[in-house]
Amino acid sequence: MHESDGYTLGVADPGMADTLYEAMMHVWQLLPDKDLFSVGSLTPDWVRERITTSGFGIVARSPAGELAGMMIVCFPGPDEDNLGYDLGMPEEALPAVALMDTAAVLPEHRGHGLEYRMFRFGEERLAGTAYRWLLCTISPRNAASLRSAEKAGYTVLMTKEKYGGHLRHILCKPINGASLADLPPIPMTTE
Ligand SMILES: CC(C)(COP(=O)(O)OP(=O)(O)OC[C@H]1O[C@@H](n2cnc3c(N)ncnc32)[C@H](O)[C@@H]1OP(=O)(O)O)[C@@H](O)C(=O)NCCC(=O)NCCS
Repeated sequence: MHESDGYTLGVADPGMADTLYEAMMHVWQLLPDKDLFSVGSLTPDWVRERITTSGFGIVARSPAGELAGMMIVCFPGPDEDNLGYDLGMPEEALPAVALMDTAAVLPEHRGHGLEYRMFRFGEERLAGTAYRWLLCTISPRNAASLRSAEKAGYTVLMTKEKYGGHLRHILCKPINGASLADLPPIPMTTE
């Protein structure tokens, strides 16, 4: 869908950290329901570190070249923000987790399926690598984001409070030969 509408996707240049941070905060400030988008740990340095060292940034641009959307792909390794811990993944699986984090599309560019396309772009970049588990969190009330993720092949595995008390689905897409059947049993209860 929309693939011929002139929007283009690419990897964020390392020098874009401040721009991405400001755009994400702009999106957050405009949200009537701020619970949908958690920006608690977001700082320019957090973005810089992810897009230069422990992940990469995805940017969507409008046909006119304006920044339209962004997503940060993080490689958390053993860090406590690795959602693999929530899913009960064994230690040895944690380095194979990539977090599809902090997706935002500027209001004037919504409706073009850009979050879905960023999910797909990130997955394509990770094809053939050692990453096997694409994980993300989405509020159960964030209909557009849930639709984008499920359309991109993500499955809700768990629902729990995250980020200081915000209810979130944890979604997973196995890639590079992994299968949901390889995961430990997931508790079905909501914490
Ligand atoms: C979530 C967000 C990134 C989605 O932007 P987008 O990619 O432009 O999303 P779209 O408007 O193209 O909608 C995506 C899909 O959801 C559907 N959708 C949108 N709003 C919806 C709603 N209120 N109810 C049901 N479905 C909805 C669209 O119809 C579309 O489905 P389709 O592909 O089958 O047509 C954007 O709304 C945003 O930046 N929100 C604030 C930040 C945020 O919530 N980030 C995600 C945090 S996890």
